[in-house]
Amino acid sequence: MAAASKDLEKKIETLREKIRHHEHLYYVLDRPEISDFDFDRLMQELQRLESEHPSLTTPDSPSQRVGGKPREGFVKVPHSSAMLSLDNTYNEEELRAWERRVHELSGRSDVDYVCELKLDGMSLALVYEDGKLVRGITRGDGSVGEDVTLNVRTVHSVPLSIPKDKLKKAGIPADFEVRGELLMPLAAFKKMNEDREARGLSVFANPRNATAGTVRQLESKVTAERRLDYFSYLLLRDGRTYFDRHSEALDALAAAGFKVNPNRKLIQSKDDRTIDEVWAFIQQWEGKRDSLPYEIDGIVVKVDRTALQDELGFTGKAPRWAIAYKYAARAGITKLEDIRVQVGRTGKLTPVAMLAPVLIGGTTVRNATLHNMDEIERLGVKIGDWVQVERGGDVIPKVAKVIEDKEHPRGHEEFKMPEKCPECSTKVVRTEGEVDYRCVNANCPAKLRETILHFASRGVMNIDGMGDALVNQLTERGLVKDVADIYRLTKEDLLSLERMGDKSAQNILDEIENSKKLPLERVIYGLGMRFVGERTAQFLAEHFGSMEELEGAGVEELEDVNEVGPRIAESIVEFFSIAANRKLVERLREAKLRLTGEKKQRRTKLAGKTFVLTGTLAKYTRDEAKKMIEDAGGKVTGSVSKKTDYVVAGEDAGSKLDKAKDLGVNVIDEKEMEKLAR
Ligand code: IVH
Repeated sequence: MAAASKDLEKKIETLREKIRHHEHLYYVLDRPEISDFDFDRLMQELQRLESEHPSLTTPDSPSQRVGGKPREGFVKVPHSSAMLSLDNTYNEEELRAWERRVHELSGRSDVDYVCELKLDGMSLALVYEDGKLVRGITRGDGSVGEDVTLNVRTVHSVPLSIPKDKLKKAGIPADFEVRGELLMPLAAFKKMNEDREARGLSVFANPRNATAGTVRQLESKVTAERRLDYFSYLLLRDGRTYFDRHSEALDALAAAGFKVNPNRKLIQSKDDRTIDEVWAFIQQWEGKRDSLPYEIDGIVVKVDRTALQDELGFTGKAPRWAIAYKYAARAGITKLEDIRVQVGRTGKLTPVAMLAPVLIGGTTVRNATLHNMDEIERLGVKIGDWVQVERGGDVIPKVAKVIEDKEHPRGHEEFKMPEKCPECSTKVVRTEGEVDYRCVNANCPAKLRETILHFASRGVMNIDGMGDALVNQLTERGLVKDVADIYRLTKEDLLSLERMGDKSAQNILDEIENSKKLPLERVIYGLGMRFVGERTAQFLAEHFGSMEELEGAGVEELEDVNEVGPRIAESIVEFFSIAANRKLVERLREAKLRLTGEKKQRRTKLAGKTFVLTGTLAKYTRDEAKKMIEDAGGKVTGSVSKKTDYVVAGEDAGSKLDKAKDLGVNVIDEKEMEKLAR
């Protein structure tokens, strides 16, 4: 019996191997060797064997790609290291400036680059253990994403398991992580929207939104039907790069069976002509982008050597060793049928153009922002005009100009800013010298709605599920009159809303509960004080360490905070001078949000001192050393000059050390650095 079952197991595994091989040929390499019919037969055979012997079914079996039963929600999981975004450039000059900076910071001019297509989908991390896919995680807020493994398993270009010898041959360890772009090919996007339209459902605006919507489906069967594709572009181990060169990592990924975009190029350093070649690649693909079966919005240029990448490091949210060159917005011509006014969180009135639907670069555009009254005057646009509409990757479409020729007669109706707020009918105000019109009614329902949406959004309190539809209902029914009311919502409240089941209600309550654990800076940002963005909120939290101290601070003290000037300081003081706002904070405190944090006094011991790190340090990574110096008030730069105070030299220090010696700059070792910074 045992022998028979061993045989069967072997038979099933051989069949799986065969199917994997053909899947790879079909979905990754795009050159099938057997007909669809024959392939289906193999799959049916596997499904039959597995259904007869359920105990032999494994999660990495190709049969698992068909998707399973609905689930209740997604679990949040931390990333092994931050999933970063990229800085953008928009023209040749900016690209060349980036390269100069790479040279300057690294102290060398012989830098090789890899150019890749910038795929317009969503980034996704795949974690493999022992050669098997164990987790697929969305980017989320960069440090924590959502576990979408079951859905990711339905994507055919994602290997579910990779044989050990294959990994070994490719030089990849058995435990590793891949990052890449999940996307919906244009044909699949078109078909899906056609189906949805026919069924009277809302259509997705573009393939990127469709991808995000598809991977977050609770029913992986639906994901399976929608044919997503995945291209990998990064290989990590324990959250760090693994190969000496990025180009090698890409080749290794391809060798291990991952789909790596073939339209990539390693550009080896050729004195000052290297960047010319990068530029040529960018231009070449701008002309060819429409011939691709998926959308791209630019080119990504990456420094090839990973040691150099480490040396260049990161600024805030993006690496210095890579840059995105974004292609110019695509444009279309359509008729402007009406102009409506939207009221934002601060009461600002934004005119929005209602357009006859127009397809621009694969996306149907129905409205476009006109920003403000000045812009409308600048464009000279009237209702009924034909206009050119531009759409960039992330940005909201905008009206670029009015078209005026024989085929496109001018419209006649002039737009005027309404005198009353379209939401609450309060008289609209335009302050002297300001461009914007505002509704100043503190209780305007539109403001309230936008304030709640901001508070609940991903980068703020991250209350998943609290989007437009829910917030509309909550505010209209008076269940939420300010952000503190969110924390008083009960299950009964939620169940009284339209289309709200027990599960969803519980999910939202859990999300609300989870948001209480978020740090002080998020709450500060969430209050929506004018001019206080994410970064400022962070500095305020570090400086004051508690909401209480922030509340009590005067303009002068506020101006001591990093990057806070009089305009921001006054806005903060004004906010807390209003009794209702202080009461609001009090209620957030009662709801047990984290209104205290850790004071990080920026120490001043090394204030004004500039350091350059070079070579490998024994005890610290470069980032740790940098942090240590910065915590003591010092600054770390990438290149040695006469202004450098200290060069910290580790093992194998190169040209920077030579330069320091030439210029007579103080060279110290790790120990001396510790002494200075402590
Ligand atoms: S590398 C730290 N390579 O662009 C490096 N990203 O704007 C991070 N993207 O979030 C990414 N194609 O979703 C890289 N070939 C490519 C890419 C790519 C598309 C996306 C990715 C990222 C976003 C940044």
